[in-house]
Amino acid sequence: MSCLHKPGPLNLKKLLLPLFLLSALCFVSGQELFPGEVTAKGDVIVFGGRVLDTSGQPVTGASVEIWQTDDQGVYDHPGDANTSRRDRGFQFFGTSFTDSSGYYSFRTILPGQYEPRPRHIHVKVRQSGREVLTTQIYFVKDARGFGGSTRNLMMELQEKTRPDGTVFFTGEFDFVVNSGGRGELRLTESQGEGPYYPMADLSLYDSDLARVDSE
Ligand SMILES: [Fe+2]
Repeated sequence: MSCLHKPGPLNLKKLLLPLFLLSALCFVSGQELFPGEVTAKGDVIVFGGRVLDTSGQPVTGASVEIWQTDDQGVYDHPGDANTSRRDRGFQFFGTSFTDSSGYYSFRTILPGQYEPRPRHIHVKVRQSGREVLTTQIYFVKDARGFGGSTRNLMMELQEKTRPDGTVFFTGEFDFVVNSGGRGELRLTESQGEGPYYPMADLSLYDSDLARVDSE
């Protein structure tokens, strides 16, 4: 068994990961959260985390919506001049609903770069249909993403190898949203949704963007 999260003895955060997430992020033959071969081009990322209020309480049943480019930095959007050349094996949009501990998870690919922006994944979090956060996640490995206001929107990726030798990356990212908590946690910074806002109902898409099922 190859587990993405190997809890260290002193890492309380990881020790407290519920069985759901441990199993979700572990690859056990026949029990993968994201089964099936990847159809998208690019480096596969499995990432997840929690949605919390400012008191640190999990926000359950929230929808986490993401949209991003394919491996070549192309959006599925009519405003992108290259959209006709987009990767048809990539889903571009996805939604994950938080569980009873506030956890969400996605399988996707490392977005490509389009000038002049660093790589990023757009995110919108809704609670009971109400938008509570719109932001973007950047990547520590992408040095161009460092600095300024994006510093606390970085996700670090860990390289992993599955038993069959395929390489993929994992990441964790928690969101603190304005959902009525009166605690001290700092809200995750909001950022605009950009010109390539999704022209789709993201709730209709699953949380596995790396695989497009052919009907
Ligand atoms: Fe963008």
